[in-house]
Order: sequence, then structure tokens, then C-alpha cells
Amino acid sequence: MTTEPDHDQPADDRTRVVLVFGGISSEHSISCLTAASVASAIDTGRYDVTGLGITPSGRWTRYSLDEIRAFTVVDGVLPVLGEDRHEALLLRTLDGVVIADVDADGTLLSHGRPVEVAMPLLHGPFGEDGTVQGSFEMLGLRYTGAGVTASAVGMDKHMMKLILAGSGLPVGAFTTIQPGQWADDPGACRDAVAALGLPVYVKPARGGSSVGISRVDSLDALDEAVREAERWDPKVIVERGFVGAREIECGVLGDLDGSGPRASRVGEVRMHTASGFYDFDAKYLPEEQVTLDVPASVGPDLEERIRDAARRTFTAVSAEGLGRVDVFVTPGGEVVVNEINTMPGFTRLSMFPMLWQASGMTYQELIDDLIRQALRRPVGLR
Ligand SMILES: Nc1ncnc2c1ncn2[C@@H]1O[C@H](COP(=O)(O)OP(=O)(O)O)[C@@H](O)[C@H]1O
Ligand SMILES: [Mg+2]
Repeated sequence: MTTEPDHDQPADDRTRVVLVFGGISSEHSISCLTAASVASAIDTGRYDVTGLGITPSGRWTRYSLDEIRAFTVVDGVLPVLGEDRHEALLLRTLDGVVIADVDADGTLLSHGRPVEVAMPLLHGPFGEDGTVQGSFEMLGLRYTGAGVTASAVGMDKHMMKLILAGSGLPVGAFTTIQPGQWADDPGACRDAVAALGLPVYVKPARGGSSVGISRVDSLDALDEAVREAERWDPKVIVERGFVGAREIECGVLGDLDGSGPRASRVGEVRMHTASGFYDFDAKYLPEEQVTLDVPASVGPDLEERIRDAARRTFTAVSAEGLGRVDVFVTPGGEVVVNEINTMPGFTRLSMFPMLWQASGMTYQELIDDLIRQALRRPVGLR
């Protein structure tokens, strides 16, 4: 392997950050758009930024800051990373973690300066679920956002609800259909679902972006809903539906100065879709389908209860960095935690940055906060 030190370059004391984006999940393109947003806003006076894009087939390839900034939607077509580049690897060396490019004849070309922080901007399985976080742990590389456990728990709605309930947080009633169980004993599954009361929401246990989720109003429709969820994940969760509930979201940032997690103002998602729920189309093809009210019109008492539940949820799953906690507020005013997302939508126009903007923090400051949190935490068990 050859190294190419930056001869003739002035000393550069900026922190070296690598954005990791794309990925093999259904949210590949959204991740590329997030990376474009971050690349355009990050303070390049403080951070020396490069990118690793994971292609739909799972190969890691290198992107420059300018290339990342250029990802955009062209005539309704979302960006997808091409398979035409050579691989680039994160490599642990005695000097630190370097990015090594593989050239045309398979030679590894390492760029001399080690990277200090990875910023994973991946959504969904194999990105938001602890897998990529585990690879950074193995490399001894600091990274923004949640660690392995919190990422895995946040991705798995079954595990998440067990932990939240076990921590005394209010969660709705649910039942889990384990892999193969629906085929083996549909009667028992049906009874467990009927005991929840209708309507129910049937979901892939480890999904995101509402993919594979159906609302079921009659047990006759259960079979189709379970099969749809099973297309995405062999483990399925069925939850009692909250009818007429408001959907309120709160941003949480990890500890920066020893005073614990920080909660943002809260925002409301209001749907105008036929399905009445926040489905994939409403999330990514917004316009008339959904209104985001930031801040939400809730009284100070309710807002405080939601922010408190959000901080406690963040702590319950041992989250770090950032998390968006989504709650239902029932017509009776009860706050029920729906989920925590450890890598929430993070484009400039996503709910999470908007919530922090409403709380006095710009998008650029938010990115800076995440990197500073990552730099201050130790590598290894913490
Ligand atoms: N138990 C429920 N009661 C009422 N609506 C629900 C329930 N579960 C999900 N929904 C609706 O479906 C949407 C997506 O479900 P969610 O659990 O948040 O999945 P995802 O992880 O894909 O965002 C929610 O935003 C909400 O509109
Ligand atoms: Mg959700």
C-alpha cells in the first residue's frame, strides 16, 4: 500500500469528518439527499469533509464534498449511487483510521491523514440499526449519533416497546408475530390481535418510513396486512390503533456539558391523506398531504409532558447524539410514546432540524453539536 502525504499543503488543523450515506435499505435516496443537505451546510472552516457512499449493492465508494452537495431530485427522480466507482475502505492503521481507495488494478491507495469522526447519515436496516455503528466500533473510529445498542433497539419496534414499557414509559398495547408464527399458527396470532381491539396497525418490526405498514379495521384484512409486513421483515408487530390521536414529535440531543439530554420544542404532523396515516408518500411527497406545525399548538403543560417523555425515552434506550421521539396525544390528553428514531430525517427541511431551529439552533449549529458530542465521547465501552 502506498501513502500520499499532502506535500506542499499548508498545515490544516480542521477536524476530518467522513460522511457515510446511501446504503442498501429502501431509504438509500433519502440518505443521499440528507448528505447533500449536510455537505452544503457544514462549516468547512472547521471541518475537512469527505464522503463514503454505500451503493445499493452494498459497495463503499468515495465522494468529494462537491459531488455530495450536488445530489438532488431531477424531474422527480431521486438520486441513486452508481456502481461504476472503485471501492474505498475505512482502514485501521497504527496512525489512525484512513480512507483507502482501491485503484483500477486493485492496489490500495491510502490518503495519509486519518479521519477523526464518521457521520453516518443512513436510514433503515444496515445503517440506522447498529450495524454500521458496530463497524466504526471495530475500527476505533468516533461517530455521531447513537451507539450499537440504542441503534438496534430504536430500529426494532418490538424490543423498543419492551424497553420503554420496562422503563415505566407509556406505550400502547401490542403483540408480536415471530418469524414463521403466522404460517404455523394463524389462529393463535388472530386471537392475540383480536384481544388488542380494532383498529390495529400491522408493521414490519424493523422498518422505517412507514414501508409495509397497514391499518386493519377488520380481522378479515389481517392476513393481507401480515403478508405485506412480512415482505419487509420476518418479524411483525401488531399495535392497537390510536383513533383520533394527534401525532407530536420532539427532538432530543445528547449530553454536551454534563447536564443531560436536551429536548427541543415540539412539532405536530397533520395528515390530509386518504389513509389518514403518515405513510411513505406523505413523508416524502409532502405538499398537500401533510402539514408540519413547528412549534405545535399545544399548551405549555402538555408540551412539558411531551418533552419530559422524550428525554426519558432517549435515556431509556441509551441513545446518544440525537433522536426524534414521536408520541400520540390521545383525545383524552394522554401522552403515549410511539417510537424513537435514532437517525431521524435530517435534511434541512426535515422535522428534526426544524424543531431545533424553533428552539434557537441553526442547521449548521446542529451539525456542529453532533460532531462535538462525538469528539468528546471515548472510543470503546462508555
Ligand atoms: N398504533 C397506532 N395508532 C395510530 N396510528 C398509528 C399507529 N402506529 C402507526 N400509526 C401511523 O402510522 C405511521 C407510521 O408508523 P410508525 O410506527 O411511526 O412507523 P415508521 O417507523 O415507519 O415511522 C405513524 O406516523 C402513524 O400515522
Ligand atoms: Mg414513525
